[in-house]
Amino acid sequence: MITTKVFAHRGSAGTHPENTMISFLEAEKVGADGIELDVQLSKDGEVVVIHDEQLDRTTNGKGNVKDYTLQELKSLDASYKFPQSNTSVQIPTLEEVFIMLLNNSMILNIELKNSVFLYPGLEEKVISLIKQYNLQDRIILSSFNHYSLVYCYRLAPDIETAPLYRDGLYMPWVYAKAIHAKAIHPSIKAAPNEIIKASMAAGVAVRPYTINSEEQMRMLFKINCSAIFTDYPQKAISLKNKENGSNKLE
Ligand code: G3P
Ligand code: CA
Repeated sequence: MITTKVFAHRGSAGTHPENTMISFLEAEKVGADGIELDVQLSKDGEVVVIHDEQLDRTTNGKGNVKDYTLQELKSLDASYKFPQSNTSVQIPTLEEVFIMLLNNSMILNIELKNSVFLYPGLEEKVISLIKQYNLQDRIILSSFNHYSLVYCYRLAPDIETAPLYRDGLYMPWVYAKAIHAKAIHPSIKAAPNEIIKASMAAGVAVRPYTINSEEQMRMLFKINCSAIFTDYPQKAISLKNKENGSNKLE
């Protein structure tokens, strides 16, 4: 039986505006096991959910996220490439997503976007909010900034961390254990099947990104990869259910 978990990448980013509440609610509706999102800090120190350091691609704003207050960010429209939606879509705060999590049992992967701007205090703010909502067991913290992940581990060893990486690493499961991470989050380009299998055999979960084609989904389901990040959670879940159904008949 395929047990690969399906994480909705930036929510259901293939069908809804990425990193918005409607995108996360869609992930919940289609039965995703988890959600992935990206966080940064506003000018007044609020934890906001947005991928790029700049507002330009995903909203009608311009310039750096860090140069705007939460109130200013909230006045922007984040529905950018879905002009057919006639309702304005806001940039969410992390707290709004936590409130949504109170109504379901999904896992949340919070990617700290702190490689370009370091956002001092981001780790403390995110961890304090996780504790406030008692979500320690349902959160995975990830980042391309691995110093930040070790810092998170020191602040809260009970919260799972996972390093993100794009280029091949030698024995990444050894590296993961060295930085106290329970999993690795590689680009699929840096994660051949042999690495995925060896890592899982060593007790380190593997969650590659971003898996949007059926071909790649099938391949990862076949080796029962720990989880995948996809912009199309509905497609992945349908395929997984179909394959599990046909395996039963064999
Ligand atoms: O967490 C996987 C993936 O989200 C990392 O890359 O650029 O989509 O945030 P990116
Ligand atoms: Ca991300």
